Amino acid sequence: MWSVPVTESLTWVPEGVDEELPSAARIYDYLLGGGHNFAADRQIAEKFATALPGSRDIARMNRAFLRRAVLFMMSCGVDQFLDVGSGIPTVGNVHEVAQRANPESRVVYVDVDPVAVSHSKLILEGNSQAVAIQADLKDPEAILQHRDTRTLLDFDRPIGLLMVGVFHFVPEDSDPDRLLARYREPLASGSYLALSHFTADTRPAEMAAMVAVMKNSKDPIYPRSRDRITQLFAGFELLEPGVVSTALWRPDAQTDLADRPERDQILAGVGRKP
Ligand SMILES: C[S@@+](CC[C@H](N)C(=O)[O-])C[C@H]1O[C@@H](n2cnc3c(N)ncnc32)[C@H](O)[C@@H]1O
Repeated sequence: MWSVPVTESLTWVPEGVDEELPSAARIYDYLLGGGHNFAADRQIAEKFATALPGSRDIARMNRAFLRRAVLFMMSCGVDQFLDVGSGIPTVGNVHEVAQRANPESRVVYVDVDPVAVSHSKLILEGNSQAVAIQADLKDPEAILQHRDTRTLLDFDRPIGLLMVGVFHFVPEDSDPDRLLARYREPLASGSYLALSHFTADTRPAEMAAMVAVMKNSKDPIYPRSRDRITQLFAGFELLEPGVVSTALWRPDAQTDLADRPERDQILAGVGRKP
């Protein structure tokens, strides 16, 4: 696992970070067993895990979906990725998965969380094929027109757009459909979207409790139904098996299926831009 020993330095803590205000990036890091989180994050993560039993499995299954989606896209010839809401580097970062399969792969990481970006920059030092930028996905222009995005990614060729575990932070009044359309428009034909998203379709009471916990963080969560999540793929051809529990999206090993998908509160899918 990528983790800088805390005693080594605190450079993953950028100046001005409010350590008292829990963030989704650091809560997720904690649930995945990472070390880049503060006491307030750990406290709320424990409440999160109590409200939604199986949270650690859910996080791990989401992460495994991300890996499989990247490898699937690579098997279709994609070698460049825009990973929005990339999180704090942890097991199986996109550039590691992609560059292991093809060292020429290029990755632009985007996150709104300063700790996520700071730690990403730290581990990407010396990697000329991957960058991390701090931006809010609700400002697509800032991301799509960013100098690093334009330098590293070739928009004339297919790109793998990764929106994994992030759109449930976008409320309806921010118009998620319009945002996704804006990201889709500049992509070349043959590009892919991988998206995963919290749902309350199953275990609604537990999800409501988890949503209440997250109201005390920087990143409230807005779960959506399977139908609504499917609509987010507008303009992409949704590939088989459609929008399903993360563990059921093209599982590649017995262990993926052994993850008790019925507990999963995250639905996922992959679409292709015609
Ligand atoms: C649950 S983590 C997912 C990390 C990674 N994509 C994965 O699936 O393993 C969600 C990430 O989305 C980021 N995020 C939340 N709202 C965002 C926004 N408006 N713009 C960019 N990133 C955002 C959080 O900071 C966090 O790092």
